[in-house]
Amino acid sequence: MRTQVAIVGAGPAGLMLAHLLSREGVDSIVIETRTREYVEHRVRAGVLEQGSVDLLDATGVGERMRREGLVHRGIQLRFGGVDHRIDFGSLTGGRAITVYGQQELVKDLIAIRLAADLPLVFEVGDVQLHDIDSEHPSVSYMVHGSRTTIECDVIAGCDGFHGVSRDSVPAGVLTTYERVYPFAWLGILAAVAPSSEELIYCYHARGFALLSMRSPSVSRLYLQVPADERIDEWPDTRIWEELRTRLASDDWSLTEGPVIEKGISAMRSFVVEPMQFGRLFLSGDAAHIVPPTGAKGMNLALRDVSILAEALTVFFTTGDTQLLDEYSAHCLRRVWRAQHFSWWMTSMLHRFPDSDAYQTQLQLAQLAYTVDSRAAATSLAENYVGYEWATT
Ligand code: FAD
Ligand code: DHB
Repeated sequence: MRTQVAIVGAGPAGLMLAHLLSREGVDSIVIETRTREYVEHRVRAGVLEQGSVDLLDATGVGERMRREGLVHRGIQLRFGGVDHRIDFGSLTGGRAITVYGQQELVKDLIAIRLAADLPLVFEVGDVQLHDIDSEHPSVSYMVHGSRTTIECDVIAGCDGFHGVSRDSVPAGVLTTYERVYPFAWLGILAAVAPSSEELIYCYHARGFALLSMRSPSVSRLYLQVPADERIDEWPDTRIWEELRTRLASDDWSLTEGPVIEKGISAMRSFVVEPMQFGRLFLSGDAAHIVPPTGAKGMNLALRDVSILAEALTVFFTTGDTQLLDEYSAHCLRRVWRAQHFSWWMTSMLHRFPDSDAYQTQLQLAQLAYTVDSRAAATSLAENYVGYEWATT
């Protein structure tokens, strides 16, 4: 098989890249280790920045998101049992976020690709990248018991944090920056109307809690738990009791409902630089991870591939490599802004195991300042909706 761009991984990054390239007449083949069913039902992110919404709209994938996504013009920070609203509208000149499940976007992108009869291969095994430092790289994989090879001009490594692309780069080329947090998030999806119109980020002595949603009848809730926690230690009754305790507030109550899905996710900050080696370009979680507190991961993945798609289009149309050469630096400015914001939100809102009374007072002082000072609230708001650089 031969194509221009071999795309490894059918998450938001890989599928969106394939979509953007097809609009520009650039050929690609997407390969994915999991089944279609699995990737369409993997519950993960839910928050789209304004820029991501605009990108989906501008490129013809925004139709269902516009219909079913929930536009939010603010979030609540809850501490000491009291809500404080961060109003995106007035602080960011009318920008907003849209709550739309990552797996819904994945479904939309898969549907578009298959309707156009473009190649997307699920359930591949033993994926290997070859000759990535040459002008004729290739990707090989097992499918239906035999090995297939895709000859290509460029490989896009969109295979997430645990993929093979990043590890295909020779040792010593990439610089790694990393922080592992001493806690995790236990997340549930529940068949119950959200108990709040807006997301609630809640600071509590027992640990962080987050109330989010997927639709007017489905809630998404998270609890900070110890890093090595096992999900079987958390029957549904215990989860609801802990959520009630942490989210408690006067004149407000949490409505409970059947838990449809639950799981625990580790928290990590991670970046590799550069996001390129030879003809391999890394995008999304394959190159960087943020803790989920800032809701940035999926948005960074979408932004990386929009930058990559533009650079590849120029390359395949004119042969000019300048934008490809600048790809890593171009992405990394935004990546590091999101790294800082995600680390900052995480540090302000979570209970650290070694935290003492002084540390707690610092967190409360920061929370009080953030909701009181227009400058501080603006900083949170403009990062949350997606910071756009004033300088190029
Ligand atoms: P992935 O979604 O990981 O996709 C990679 C794909 O590659 C997968 O389908 C995988 O099966 C496949 N793959 C792996 N190895 C191979 C291989 N060898 N060959 C072929 N395919 C392979 N982000 C936000 O923006 N907002 C949020 O609100 C948010 N909340 C989150 C909440 C949780 C609980 C979690 C866990 C994450 C959250 N994130 C959030 C992060 C977001 O989900 C990720 O950043 C996003 O999925 C990254 O997309 P991706 O395409 O780069 O990687
Ligand atoms: C959701 C996830 C997040 O990490 C976040 O900060 C806000 C919302 C969600 O899944 O809805």
